[in-house]
Amino acid sequence: MGLTSSINGIYCEKLYQDLWIKGAAMQVGGRGCKERYEAIEAHLSKLQGPFKVLDLGANMGYFSFRLAENFKGDFVMLENSSTTTKRLLQLCLMNANPQIYFLAVRVNLAELEKILLAEKFDVILALSVIHHFNEPFNDIIATFARHSKYVILEHANPEETHCPNPNRIKAEPLNLSPYNPIKLCTSTATGYQHIFRDTYALTGSVEASEKSTPGISLETYSKYSGIYPHPTLLHSLLKKHKDKSLLRLVEGTIKK
Ligand SMILES: C[S@@+](CC[C@H](N)C(=O)[O-])C[C@H]1O[C@@H](n2cnc3c(N)ncnc32)[C@H](O)[C@@H]1O
Repeated sequence: MGLTSSINGIYCEKLYQDLWIKGAAMQVGGRGCKERYEAIEAHLSKLQGPFKVLDLGANMGYFSFRLAENFKGDFVMLENSSTTTKRLLQLCLMNANPQIYFLAVRVNLAELEKILLAEKFDVILALSVIHHFNEPFNDIIATFARHSKYVILEHANPEETHCPNPNRIKAEPLNLSPYNPIKLCTSTATGYQHIFRDTYALTGSVEASEKSTPGISLETYSKYSGIYPHPTLLHSLLKKHKDKSLLRLVEGTIKK
């Protein structure tokens, strides 16, 4: 998803996130990324890694690319829209980080829960995305918490009027109290100077000592439109294996 802005009456597409390529950002996005990233990195640094992270609504992959440079683990991005998919794939190819996976899919809550059950993530990154879903916001958060150790959540501000579902954001206040919320940062909402979005770290119900499954299963990859690592690379890796059930893709190699 991008944003539109009017320059001399002509509507132009603007990017939401900055573009991150191998250790550096092109600061072109309309939404502050650096301050949110730094707060998230500082929080995760206090926890026990490696982390298997689901980046729901990854947009231009800014958070996953940076996390994958700074932490050991697996970083699975879910994103699909007419303005993001192609660009995000290009950015995956440019970053060429074997810890990154991209599923080009837009999920509803039931599909998301299937992915969470199959893959067992440590961290769910849900930044400014749940207001795009049709399901009740508190049900989505409860699902995140059931299936992860840590949730990083940012939600739209009820005072915003030009974001998806503004009426629902007002009508469905979040109840974060069951998840021991810690506020990590506050950053301005897109298009406003005095309306802010808060980012919280929540505690999920999966035990911190529980091991997540490394990489991503080929079943999840193919069922949910995996496009990075590139299918051609996967095809050549797979040639060596006769029995393809229960195979996983882990940092650029196929493992059982
Ligand atoms: C407002 S942007 C937030 C991007 C990023 N998480 C951030 O905070 O910088 C929301 C993104 O979520 C994606 N998105 C919305 N609903 C989604 C869904 N059901 N499944 C996957 N991605 C979704 C959109 O395409 C868009 O790129």
